[in-house]
Amino acid sequence: MYKKEILRDGTEITIRNITMDDLENYMKFFRSLPPKDRKYLRINVTNDNLIKERIKQIRSGNFFRIVALKDDQIIASGALELYVDDWHKHHAELRVIVSGPFQRRGLGLIMNRELYLIAAQHDVKKVIAKMMKPQTGAVKILKKLGFKEEHLIPKYVQDQDETAQDLVIMTCDMNDFWKELESLYHSTDWKRCR
Ligand SMILES: CC(C)(COP(=O)(O)OP(=O)(O)OC[C@H]1O[C@@H](n2cnc3c(N)ncnc32)[C@H](O)[C@@H]1OP(=O)(O)O)[C@@H](O)C(=O)NCCC(=O)NCCS
Repeated sequence: MYKKEILRDGTEITIRNITMDDLENYMKFFRSLPPKDRKYLRINVTNDNLIKERIKQIRSGNFFRIVALKDDQIIASGALELYVDDWHKHHAELRVIVSGPFQRRGLGLIMNRELYLIAAQHDVKKVIAKMMKPQTGAVKILKKLGFKEEHLIPKYVQDQDETAQDLVIMTCDMNDFWKELESLYHSTDWKRCR
């Protein structure tokens, strides 16, 4: 996948699949994230080996990882994990991270749209997102996209400072996700993606 996109402020960006050649650039992206965002991520994203393993996961065929670039610099990362066990057949988990200076410019919506398209190609029926309660921006964008806050498990996970945090699990039916995306995003390119 390789796409040119224009943010709502006119900034031109590229979205494409990640490759192992992006490792150094990807590490730069993670290291530049605001500490308040990095604190709640699932793994220590400043650890090169962990990130290398994450990129390798794409070989399994059940993990999809895309990046957005401004010029040659990675400015956002998106991941979709297809669940393979019988309980969760046709379910997939979605994660998006946007670099500080590019937040609130519509990039999160574009990344979610691209992950939606990948999910649709793989017959996913329900999308799941998990986050810590302080990740309020994530909860807001997902609610806007039709996700429902299904569960809050108190003090279930710990952040990078080892402080216990509430886990929020949100889910969205693929049809609702599409409806919300379509009403939020009306560009010609968006319609052409269908
Ligand atoms: C959550 C995140 C991905 C949103 O990305 P983004 O590019 O800033 O989102 P967008 O600009 O596309 O926002 C779309 C809409 O979502 C809502 N939204 C997004 N971030 C928000 C925030 N921090 N507070 C309130 N509303 C927010 C708004 O309604 C926004 O529309 P508006 O700007 O026209 O009001 C980004 O803030 C981020 O990477 N946060 C840190 C990592 C994280 O929490 N990831 C989620 C893990 S699942």
